Amino acid sequence: MSLPKSDLSKQADNRTALQLGAVLPRTAEVRGGHLVIGGVDMVELAHEQGTALYVFDEADVRARMAEYRDALREAYPHSDVLYASKAFLNKEILRIARDEGLCLDVSGGGELACALAVDFPPERIFVHGNNKTERELREAIGAGVGRIVLDSRLELQRVSRIAGELGRTQKVLMRVTPGVEADTHEYIKTGCEDSKFGFTMLEDFAFRCVGDVLAAPNVELTGFHCHIGSQIFALHSFAEAVQVMVGFCARVRDHYGLQAADLDMGGGLGIAYGADDEPSAIGDFARRLAQAVKGGCEAEGLPLPRLLVEPGRSLVANAGVTLYTVGILKTLPGIRKYVAVDGGMSDNIRTALYHADYEAVIANKADKPRTEIVTLCGKHCESGDAVVLDGSLQPAELGDIVCVFGTGAYCYTMASTYNGQPRPAIVFVRDGQARVVTRRETYNDLMSRDV
Ligand code: LLP
Repeated sequence: MSLPKSDLSKQADNRTALQLGAVLPRTAEVRGGHLVIGGVDMVELAHEQGTALYVFDEADVRARMAEYRDALREAYPHSDVLYASKAFLNKEILRIARDEGLCLDVSGGGELACALAVDFPPERIFVHGNNKTERELREAIGAGVGRIVLDSRLELQRVSRIAGELGRTQKVLMRVTPGVEADTHEYIKTGCEDSKFGFTMLEDFAFRCVGDVLAAPNVELTGFHCHIGSQIFALHSFAEAVQVMVGFCARVRDHYGLQAADLDMGGGLGIAYGADDEPSAIGDFARRLAQAVKGGCEAEGLPLPRLLVEPGRSLVANAGVTLYTVGILKTLPGIRKYVAVDGGMSDNIRTALYHADYEAVIANKADKPRTEIVTLCGKHCESGDAVVLDGSLQPAELGDIVCVFGTGAYCYTMASTYNGQPRPAIVFVRDGQARVVTRRETYNDLMSRDV
């Protein structure tokens, strides 16, 4: 895999760090030319902790969690926010989500284990996945999770049987695919009809399966779930999905006599990766969703269900950054300029996978304009290993500390140890204090499972 051709006509944007808009963590500032987040100097932190390094602005994460929770509760009192832990998972973020009163979306046994390890109340945990294993289902039901989100009829049989074996009645949601085309990258679209996820609405399959769920022993159907995709900017896509889901709930009530207690609209709110991106505010998203559910339920004469949302990216992405050290500079006249850093596709696969856009600055030149266009490449044995393609950057020198913004979601959780690269440490910064919440992987860690 090689890189897309560099656009040689592209002009650098001449912005300084603080002109990068919504990609910045909320406490970002510049002091003495250095980028400071959470009151901590990123250059000093990089020197102390080594690079590559993931850094999170704790106040930013907490503020976004509170904003989601409060905006939704204000617009729609009977609501809950689930943190989608696939976006960024370690014990500390789960403790914070727990303490901020959020519920949790887990999509695998390991995510559940991590949640249980920090005493996340099991009744606040929702379990997702299109192919949950026997073991995962047994662990989840045994732990007393709040909901299992049923993805298929085969899974219904498994859940029903396992719950019976464990002497439980398991509350479940049914995940349906509402056929709404959200405007996002093909690979992260999920709500459209050709999807491995959920019960399809084609040929009224999902509707017919409601009868199977109601008839199955040891499960209690409390409502419905959908997730139309990720990194969605257009709020009308969510409103359209609400319309489909509320219509579905009305038909279920009319035919089966079941009034859905839960309506889970999934995650997917987009965030700023580029300095000019203008994603919807969390409050606007919450109000638009609440309005759509209220309006729809009123039109159908349905009592208001509990409204659930499952944001991942929009809670953590912009709170997180990655720090690297510049190790090699290479200019190919008429082709491109490479700035090579001490990480890459191992700590951020999103550029290689989705051609994601990221903004970067040199943390020790944060007050200087970004006057060059460069490709920020990694250290891995792969031509496609880049973090930023054709991005603006201050003129780079060896030893500079590069900060890439917006890396708080789907970077650490999708990290690998390619080329034997130990995964970076994770540091939370707040009020001038830095604390390591996940230590850097060691070479011994890399070998620790080998026999
Ligand atoms: N709920 C369900 C059922 C999901 O599948 C997802 C994400 C979420 C919630 C959270 O969505 P968010 O608010 O973070 O958009 N690796 C891709 C993103 C995959 C999203 C998968 N599902 C990326 O790096 O862009």
